Parts: sequence; structure tokens; C-alpha cells
Amino acid sequence: MPSPPIEQRRNLVTELPGPASRELDRRRSTAVATGVSSTLPLYVAEASGAILVDVDGNSLIDLGAGIAVVSVGHASPSVVDAVRDQVGRFSHTCFMVNPYEGYVEVCEHLNRLVPGDAPKRSALFNSGAEAVENAVKIARHVTGRQAVVAFDHAYHGRTNLTMALTAKNMPYREKFGPFAPEIYRAPMSYPFRDPEGMTGAEAADRAVEQIERQVGGDNVACVLIEPIQGEGGFVVPAPGFLPAVAEWCRSNGALLIADEIQTGFCRTGTWFACEDEGVVPDLVTTAKALAGGMPLAAVTGRAEVMDGVHPGGLGGTYGGNPVACAAALAAIDTMHRLDLARAARTIGSTVTDRLRSLQKEHPGIGDVRGRGAMLAMEFVRPGTHEPDPDAARAIASACHRAGVVVLTCGSFGNVIRLLPPLVIDDALLADGLDVLSGAVDQVLA
Ligand SMILES: Cc1ncc(COP(=O)(O)O)c(C=O)c1O
Repeated sequence: MPSPPIEQRRNLVTELPGPASRELDRRRSTAVATGVSSTLPLYVAEASGAILVDVDGNSLIDLGAGIAVVSVGHASPSVVDAVRDQVGRFSHTCFMVNPYEGYVEVCEHLNRLVPGDAPKRSALFNSGAEAVENAVKIARHVTGRQAVVAFDHAYHGRTNLTMALTAKNMPYREKFGPFAPEIYRAPMSYPFRDPEGMTGAEAADRAVEQIERQVGGDNVACVLIEPIQGEGGFVVPAPGFLPAVAEWCRSNGALLIADEIQTGFCRTGTWFACEDEGVVPDLVTTAKALAGGMPLAAVTGRAEVMDGVHPGGLGGTYGGNPVACAAALAAIDTMHRLDLARAARTIGSTVTDRLRSLQKEHPGIGDVRGRGAMLAMEFVRPGTHEPDPDAARAIASACHRAGVVVLTCGSFGNVIRLLPPLVIDDALLADGLDVLSGAVDQVLA
């Protein structure tokens, strides 16, 4: 029986957390490992669009979309139908044993959507980290080189290789070493924290100088970059940075891997963030929004690169699971049908206006940045660039107490980021932003 649609309205009916969530949290503390933590102690019973309903009946506005996953909205009807239909037909064969059409069709879509006119191929995996691992495997295999360059403030996952690629120690790397070798870190273009006026080209020169001095261009298999950094603080590089890095890769025989796991699938107002400056990477990693809430990830790239790996060199038991593929086909269709890239741009202009007017009133908001529906505020001690993680934490907590889910991020923990489902309606977004503004006013007063 389909459940009735959930009203797209914030509504708190108990204190937060309510009694049922508190009871679940008590059970959790004796059952779930401490290392797996949650932003809010509110247990979800159901969700739809941009509303989460907890086990006490509280309706919360979700401005995080499960970390940029449910761009098509929670329980998007076409995703739900596709999953129900597929799971009733078959839920697993292992594509490496018995293939099926859904996998092929998802790859066909990815090959069309990912930037670049050259023929492309894709391979499917389960998680973002697994996609990054495989992109690096492919790059090393086809170049015959070993060095991998990643950037300051980067986040690429929690497996051994992707921990090594991730720049932040706590909580991701602390005492989890030794880490995978042959990883080198270059400075990112971070306009708010770079010397004033530093252009993208100058920031790229700074990175290239370090790569050539420390690694040597001939040793670099690939340069891995998030076109807009996610966990690192929604850092948008200065214009010209990405194209200059891409050009350096081309002239040094290194592959450019764009990690579009957080930025991909309409989030930044285009299908992929690297389109903004016309950059065509050799390989693109995707996950998160790809399958509307089901676990699915991909590596997509030029055919001669992707096909450089021998048969059997890539894969995994669950990679490209048929239910996840059915969900992806429905999610991609929904993104086209509802023009969610445009929706992201509209959300972007509404939110940016609000955040910029808040910034005018509060010198503790050092920077407002982002693109499309991937937006953030960086908090600093007024009049300085000194990070203020306490402010970010206190503002996020005030939002949570009022029933609005916002997330923090950043190398310094001082950034609040907004990643609403792209189907959020205007009134709900306005209510969420009112709560956020109130929290900022209260904490920074
Ligand atoms: C840019 C980027 N790369 C990789 C990952 C890792 O993805 P997953 O958590 O699915 O392994 C993330 C997750 O937040 C991400 O934002």
C-alpha cells in the first residue's frame, strides 16, 4: 500500500529528541560501534521530498539531502516505483557472472552525460570511495606510473587508499595508518585563504611548481581533484585554476580525475561542476545523487583509457547492483524531466541572496560561497581569518533544535553547508532559511 504523501511543512510535536528517539538512542549505545556517529539523535521513520519525519512524528526540513544524495527528493515516486519493480523481478546476479540491461543502460547514460565528445566507457561500483580507488587503479595501470596528486582540504573517502588521499586528520585518518604510498599533496586554490588577489592561474602555478619539484611530472599517474571541494569546506577554486591543472596534466601525460561524487548530477547547476569552465577530465568519479538514495558509484572516462585494463581487472560482487541501477535510471530521468540543474540554479540565487545579506550584518561570516545548490558560509573571528568552529557548531545545533537539518564541514570545522534536495519547494526553503538566519542572529549577536 503506498503511504499518503508527507506534507512539505516543518512541524515539531515533541521536544527534540522525543521519547521514541531517546529510547532508540539508548539501544544504539549498546549495539552500534562508537566510531559510527550521527549528526542528529533523531531516528527517521519516513521521508518524502525535503521532509524527514522522525519516530516521534516530528517533521524536519532536510537541507543536507543525506549529504547530497537525494537530489531528486526523499522517496522520489519514480525511484520508489523502479526499485519496487526491479526487486520483484531479480535483485542480484553479479554483473561479472550474469549481466543485465540496467547496468549497460546506466553506463550509456553516464557516457552521454559526462563531459567530453570522445567515446566513453563506464564501470559501476558501490560507494564513492570504491569509485575513487578504481579510478586510481585505472590511471596507474594505463600510464604505468605510480604517483597520485591530491589537494589540500581534499576528501575522497575512508578506505585505506582514499584515507591517504583525504587531507584532514580528525576524524578520518587519526591512528588508522599506515596509509597507501605514492600519494602527494598540492596546494588548492582557496580564494578566501589565499594571498589577496591570487588568480586561478597563479594558484595553479603554485601547485605545479610543488608537483614538479617534489614528484616530477613524468612520475605522475593522475591528478585527482574535486571541482568544488565538499567535506573540505565547499572550496570553489578561483576561475582558471581547474583549466590550468587540466592543461598541465595533458602536457605531462598525467590523467586528470575529477571527483564529482558530491558535485555531480545537477547539484551545482550543471550536470557536472567541471562543465562550468569547460574542463574535460580523463576520468570522472560519481556516486551519491546518481541513484536517488540507493548505493551506486561509477568511473566514467575516455574509451581508450577505460579499456586499457584487462578483462577481470575491475569489478566486485555487488558493483552495479540491478536495484541500484533501476533507481539510477529513474533518478536520471527525473533530473531531466524536472530540469533539476535549473532548479539548483534557482535555489542557488535564493540562498545566496539570503546568506549575503546575513553576511552584511555579521562580520563573523567571513565568506559566502558555492555554486548552484551547493552553498556555504565560513565563520571566522570578526575582523580576522581565524576560523570559528564554535560558531558553526552552535548555529548548526540551534537549527537542529528548531527542526532544520544543516551540516557542518571544512578543514577547520567552521563551515555550514547547505545541500537541499533539488525538489524543495519555495515555502519550505524560505522557512529553513528563516530558521538558519535566526540561529545566526542569535549566536553571532
Ligand atoms: C568528493 C567525495 N569523494 C568521495 C567521497 C566518498 O564517498 P562514499 O562515502 O560513498 O565512499 C565523498 C563522500 O562524501 C565525497 O564527497
